[in-house]
Amino acid sequence: MLPNIKFSFIPWLLLVQLCFQPAMTSPLGALDKLSLGNNGDCATFSRALLWNVTEVMALDSVFKGINCSEQRIKMNTSNSTVSACLPSEVQMGTGCAGFQNSNLDQKECLRNVVADLEHYKELLQKYADPTLDSTVVRAISDLTEHCFSASPTNPSTLKNSDFRDHTFDERLQMCKILKGFQVRAITISRILSYISADTSKK
Ligand SMILES: *[C@@H]1O[C@H](CO)[C@@H](O)[C@H](O)[C@H]1NC(C)=O
Ligand SMILES: *[C@@H]1O[C@H](CO)[C@@H](O)[C@H](O)[C@H]1NC(C)=O
Ligand SMILES: *[C@@H]1O[C@H](CO)[C@@H](O)[C@H](O)[C@H]1NC(C)=O
Ligand SMILES: *[C@@H]1O[C@H](CO)[C@@H](O)[C@H](O)[C@H]1NC(C)=O
Repeated sequence: MLPNIKFSFIPWLLLVQLCFQPAMTSPLGALDKLSLGNNGDCATFSRALLWNVTEVMALDSVFKGINCSEQRIKMNTSNSTVSACLPSEVQMGTGCAGFQNSNLDQKECLRNVVADLEHYKELLQKYADPTLDSTVVRAISDLTEHCFSASPTNPSTLKNSDFRDHTFDERLQMCKILKGFQVRAITISRILSYISADTSKK
């Protein structure tokens, strides 16, 4: 079901894979405004986002002659969702212990997930492509609205007159960014199902 990605280039993704298993238990209290909404919605909408990202990369109408699957990933590692979402034991290399006793960790993790989604949404809205706007941007909005009780901070307001054509370099950059976002979307999807599974046990 997941798109074909070269996992070896992204060791932290493996960490998430190995360490985030629903079998682990961890207490979960109120998450303030960032509480997860309906758990089913989180799964559905994060999967929808992943599909939207994956599908759009194959559209020649968006990338016009650039074969996106041949491009390298461009990912902003300065602020990683995952570092906030991995328990500190894992970050320090001592094992996979889950969120331990820390609601704070989960809150911080979710806050980072939302910030990450908003960051990408902003990038995509600035790019102003009608196809991206009606697919990936919408899928991000749907996820943040339905899964998190956080209301969207920048709802899409693009009009036809806002859309523009892009140079080859711009399209190439966007293709790389989307590849990075695809990896993020996979990670976010895993994180949400881990936390959801955890929550529904209570
Ligand atoms: C894009 O590149 C991939 C990998 O090289 C190849 O399998 C695929 O057929 C190409 N797609 C197009 C539309 O050229
Ligand atoms: C990377 O993320 C940082 C912090 O979120 C941001 O300031 C910076 O502009 C981003 N760089 C790129 C290339 O997106
Ligand atoms: C980067 O992440 C840290 C910790 O999660 C956060 O405090 C900081 O505001 C973030 N920086 C940006 C530019 O988003
Ligand atoms: C793409 O996202 C939209 C908006 O969330 C959703 O309605 C649609 O089902 C998604 N597409 C796929 C193929 O999942």
